[in-house]
Amino acid sequence: MLAGKTILLIIGGGIAAIKTPELIRSLRAQGAAVVPVLTRAGAEFVTPLSISALAGHAVHQDLFDLTTEAEMGHIQLSRAADLVVVAPATADLMAKMAAGLANDLASTLLLATDTPVLIAPAMNVRMWQHAATQRNRAQLAADGIRFVGPAEGEMACGEFGPGRMSEPSEILAAIEAALSDGPLKGRHVLVTSGPTHEPIDPVRYIANRSSGAQGTALAAALRDLGADVSFITGPATVPPPAGVRVIRVETARQMLAAVQAALPADAAVFAAAVADWRVANAADKKMKKDGTGSLPALEFAENPDILATVSQMKAGRPGLVVGFAAETHEVEAHATAKRARKGCDWIVANDVSPATGIMGGSENAVTVIDAAGAEAWPRMGKDAVARKLASRIAAALGTV
Ligand code: C5P
Repeated sequence: MLAGKTILLIIGGGIAAIKTPELIRSLRAQGAAVVPVLTRAGAEFVTPLSISALAGHAVHQDLFDLTTEAEMGHIQLSRAADLVVVAPATADLMAKMAAGLANDLASTLLLATDTPVLIAPAMNVRMWQHAATQRNRAQLAADGIRFVGPAEGEMACGEFGPGRMSEPSEILAAIEAALSDGPLKGRHVLVTSGPTHEPIDPVRYIANRSSGAQGTALAAALRDLGADVSFITGPATVPPPAGVRVIRVETARQMLAAVQAALPADAAVFAAAVADWRVANAADKKMKKDGTGSLPALEFAENPDILATVSQMKAGRPGLVVGFAAETHEVEAHATAKRARKGCDWIVANDVSPATGIMGGSENAVTVIDAAGAEAWPRMGKDAVARKLASRIAAALGTV
């Protein structure tokens, strides 16, 4: 799949660098050539000898290596690759990239390159959550840098949370997506997925039964066509796909803010099952029984309609906006009305009455409604629905 492709792999200085030999091995197994660059700190975790042996290529380490400069300057080195991958991307490397610093070989290559760049951040959870790193993350995303991870989990430092470098298999999937020559290459597509959780108090919430399966399959299918996917997901039960930018949210209002921050996009697909209401009088302390038998009264407020908000944007509206409609009866009539009410381009409607077994199941039977009318698709797996919808999106964006 990666035959004929060259990856410039910049290895930063973090404990996650010990996962890079496995990444190099799997890249080469896919047919890619790997040109490794080791930062000074990276060389504290993996040795130049092991990296060059695995890569089958000399390791570049020094900005002022005269022989290399004479043979191939750092400018050429940065541009000869099909993709520049930074793994692990430390907080320090991200800060240098965001600020445009060029004081060592890695940062100079990153500033001089005109090839796409994919980074796999890895750092302590507090460092990842720090306002400075989050500023840098947003800046780098706006500069067109692709991200894979960080993942959430136990860290080498003993803490738990986001900051772990993605596994080599996930980085490989992201590399394949970035290098895919599919029809959606270079297109940014946003997908919302999963349920939302609306708090009642700090420990209780209102949720729904969405598993996130259809949104996840769709994000993977769009990725497979080469799209740069921003995947904004509520607390779903299926894990997000590899090779997409994952933004996790809990509430509808957080989902709207994340969607707005991820725009502009060429297309946006709203597959999330967003709660229509939130608890207006959510308590900031756990609600307790008071022994008198009196029951708490919940008041509700309407959540923003994310699909309608984006569909009706005056400026910067994605070229194609797709909504979903889960209905239990008169599916086509309700979905057609919904399309007009919300102002989206297409509605993908499905019958979720319990007898269909669609909600939470692996199959879906959808009707796609656009300006021209309704098109009923036969019942098929959610993955197949996703692939068919992704190709329809590619066709609508004029890429096939
Ligand atoms: O109005 P209804 O919930 O049936 O609309 C479903 C469509 O609208 C889905 O695409 C869903 O993702 C989107 N939606 C939204 N924000 C809401 C409610 C629904 O984006 N608050």
